[in-house]
Amino acid sequence: MTTLIEDRMNRIAAWTAPGFEDLLTALLAQGRTLYVVGGNVRDFLLGEDDVINDLDLAMAAPVLDAARQAADAVGWAFYPLDAQRDVARLVQVEDGSERRICDIAALRGDLVDDLHTRDFTVNALAIVLAPNEAPRLLDVVGGVEDLSARRLRPFAEENLDADPVRLLRAVRFAHKFDLTIDAALADQIRRRAETLHSVSPERQRDELWKILGLTSPADALHTMHDLDLIAPVLPELTQTVGITQTPPHHLDVFGHTLLAMDYAAALRDWLHEQKDRLDPRLGELLAHHGTALRHHFAEPLSSGRSRADWLVWHALCHDWGKPATRSEEIDAQGTMRTRYFEHERVGATMTVERLTALRFSRREIQLAQTVVDAHMRPHHLHVSFEDEEIGRRAAFRFFRDTASGTNGEQTGVDVLLLALADYQATGATRGPGWPAYLAHADQLLSFAFQAETQVGPPLLNGSHLMRDLDLPPGPMIGRLLGQVQEAQAAGEIATPEEALDLARIVLAQTRALESDS
Ligand code: CTP
Repeated sequence: MTTLIEDRMNRIAAWTAPGFEDLLTALLAQGRTLYVVGGNVRDFLLGEDDVINDLDLAMAAPVLDAARQAADAVGWAFYPLDAQRDVARLVQVEDGSERRICDIAALRGDLVDDLHTRDFTVNALAIVLAPNEAPRLLDVVGGVEDLSARRLRPFAEENLDADPVRLLRAVRFAHKFDLTIDAALADQIRRRAETLHSVSPERQRDELWKILGLTSPADALHTMHDLDLIAPVLPELTQTVGITQTPPHHLDVFGHTLLAMDYAAALRDWLHEQKDRLDPRLGELLAHHGTALRHHFAEPLSSGRSRADWLVWHALCHDWGKPATRSEEIDAQGTMRTRYFEHERVGATMTVERLTALRFSRREIQLAQTVVDAHMRPHHLHVSFEDEEIGRRAAFRFFRDTASGTNGEQTGVDVLLLALADYQATGATRGPGWPAYLAHADQLLSFAFQAETQVGPPLLNGSHLMRDLDLPPGPMIGRLLGQVQEAQAAGEIATPEEALDLARIVLAQTRALESDS
């Protein structure tokens, strides 16, 4: 039986990149030889090339003119990505968005030199495309053998020094393609862990983003921990290692965080309609609100980063405040219990600091801050409404108080999904309370999305209050409007007259209280 890789090797002469054919033909028509390099070749051999959006090519210098001519011939946009190093980017734009990207770099030295300096052997394979010749594979570093043996290996140890971000890339490739990091490579990585400090925050961010985008971010973070790679890039997470917790928690804060991240990743993948790994009951609940949820979470917050993707980051940060706030107390039964008062507030501040350092956008930081700060609220609501439905007023408050940013964007749903991941990661099993927790989540989602629970236009405004109640401008107006809005959301009032009556009562009560004190 031939393996997948052997089968792919046998089909190398028929290699194509769907969607890039015309462009490649236009480049070859100039009589130039092209080299497909990097991840495209690895992905072809692994059978992971169904859709190619990015193609990396190399060719002998000069590149820019040849690339421009080919782009003009097939109607792609041309950008001199790095004129000094002779690197071009060609982009196919369809319906206003970038559909396919082809980067063409001039070879530094000859092709073999170029391949020798790449990060890992599995990424140092090339497909040679010469005019009027069938494509052929070039493997000067033993990449095919390593790929077949599922082994991650730099061609030379020094290649890890050339660009320290490769230490993180090692973890990503190991987990994405199920490659082994053997003891020797692990040792080489550990010895260089501190060099990650020299990587720019943007590159740290982009690599971490890809790692957290894996199916199991927890597995990847366990590997990072084992290789001492967490401290240089996410020191707040390192501090959670060994911070013990009492039941219902079954793991230390670090273990719990990683598990919550995997539950968040399952939610993310469900939202992206990629994989369904959800607990069936949770899947059923979310399916009730599927369209609205997917619409909400599909929103891009920054280029290539959606709300759904952020769920895993929220899980990453949610308990960062625990190490600093941990205390122990003896409960009524004489059992020691760990407490973390205000950990969500402390954690929100730490989250802002780290995400700012990693150069995330203001909007993403604000969202994460709100979510981490509010992550205990669904748990508190669940406890306060034990055995009953969450009241509309409480639901309204939850969504009002968790609205984030200056435009008051809806963030309560993001908080709720984090809470669902958090709950599942607390305790070795979901426990008997899970159905009741899901029922409460269902009520909150219904409140968020169902038309009948949407609060209509305001029943009155500040000028009405000042005129009809003869009030001067001041904080009292805001207070009364807030009370009216809550009552309206709870369905207790529906007309301007009822709103005014309520405002009158609240005003009288407030004045009575003030004169008592
Ligand atoms: N490369 C490298 N060192 C880096 C980054 C990239 O040697 N720090 C080389 C590798 O040969 C890599 C290629 O450049 O395969 C393309 O890099 P990139 O697009 O970042 O990664 P891919 O391997 O293509 O994988 P993916 O697109 O999945 O990130």
